[in-house]
Amino acid sequence: MRICSIVGARPQFVKAAVVSSALREVGEEILVHTGQHYDEEMSDVFFDELGIPEPDYNLGVKSDTHGRQTAKMIAEIEPVVEETEPDVMLLYGDTNSTLAGAIVGSKLDMEVAHVEAGLRSYNREMPEEVNRVLTDHASEYCFAPSENAVETLAGEGITDGVYMTGDVMYDSVLAVRNRVAGNTAVLEKLGVEEGEFILATVHRQGNTDDREKLESILDGLAAASQPVVLPIHPRTVDRLESYGLWERADEDLELVDPLGYLDFVRLLDAAERVVTDSGGVQKEAFFLETPCVTLREETEWVETAECGWNELVGTDTDAIRTALTKDEWPETTPNPYGDGNASQQIAEILEREAETDELEAQTSD
Ligand code: UD1
Ligand code: UDP
Repeated sequence: MRICSIVGARPQFVKAAVVSSALREVGEEILVHTGQHYDEEMSDVFFDELGIPEPDYNLGVKSDTHGRQTAKMIAEIEPVVEETEPDVMLLYGDTNSTLAGAIVGSKLDMEVAHVEAGLRSYNREMPEEVNRVLTDHASEYCFAPSENAVETLAGEGITDGVYMTGDVMYDSVLAVRNRVAGNTAVLEKLGVEEGEFILATVHRQGNTDDREKLESILDGLAAASQPVVLPIHPRTVDRLESYGLWERADEDLELVDPLGYLDFVRLLDAAERVVTDSGGVQKEAFFLETPCVTLREETEWVETAECGWNELVGTDTDAIRTALTKDEWPETTPNPYGDGNASQQIAEILEREAETDELEAQTSD
């Protein structure tokens, strides 16, 4: 079995790290990096730290408008697939790299597999929402992280090829948590104490591309009674500078470059709470039982909010301020995202299906 995996953005490297090693136990993987993220700290650091194999192809697409970026990826992925003739195209999450892979796969009439299928924010203004919906509908295999995601797919008429595997990010947090436990280097470097700081991330287009919202978030974070560490995404750097908000942010918050995964997970575990608009960070906070305040009105990771570990506050300064003072947390943590073996299940399902396809092909010859 030969699998062509498409990655391109930071969260996809984290997911691919665990899935890739499981896939390589059962077949051959062609790893394609679209180049959507390209800065050292947005890309290389994950390959180095997590032992992800060097991509077989780096398409070097980089940043552009959504349409042009996706179109360039499609144009670059198609010849790779034609040349390498994989049995399956494996896609992760909801970025433009995901959608580009789904379009190439479906146009070439090949099997497409989607990791993190069935998630919906029901907010069509998010570019990611359209990517999720289209990718699920172009996929033969939908690997759902939760029962809720399975139900969502069924509600859209997708029932064949749906597998509840659990969430691959749970696998990755489990793999890294113990590796970094007790390591104080990053805390010392940032001058913060375990349990006495807030970790924040902000990069969602809807929050960063609106000056008023971004300013409102900064004001909310600035009201925290503890230091706020903000590893800052390049999109957010760009917007803070162009809105003339950089100096203010730099004064009120501990702005640092984006961190590698090991340091970031260590901080997530050590933080008193997390404030974020990231999808992945909401989940990782949940897995590590660090309370999360989400700078969005809705989440596709509904289970984290329903059980009380994740509070959705949007971007209003007062709502953020109030959430930062909350100090009662649930006594128990449910486990809706599987058993931490999603990657292995995905590899096994693909292997089994490839064997069935081969048998059927032999029978029909
Ligand atoms: C993308 C995904 C988003 C995901 C995020 C993870 C889409 C539509 N969005 O958003 O779902 O949550 O990645 O971080 O696919 N930039 C750099 N260096 C880099 C990468 C980006 O400077 O290595 C800057 C560029 O100015 C670029 C901007 O960041 O225009 C946005 O990058 P892009 O990949 O288009 O979208 P993200 O906001 O990163
Ligand atoms: N992350 C990281 N360093 C950082 C910020 C995030 O390693 O400075 C990791 C985080 O642990 C998670 C992933 O990047 O695994 C989430 O990426 P991001 O928030 O950019 O994207 P999203 O999940 O919202 O698509």
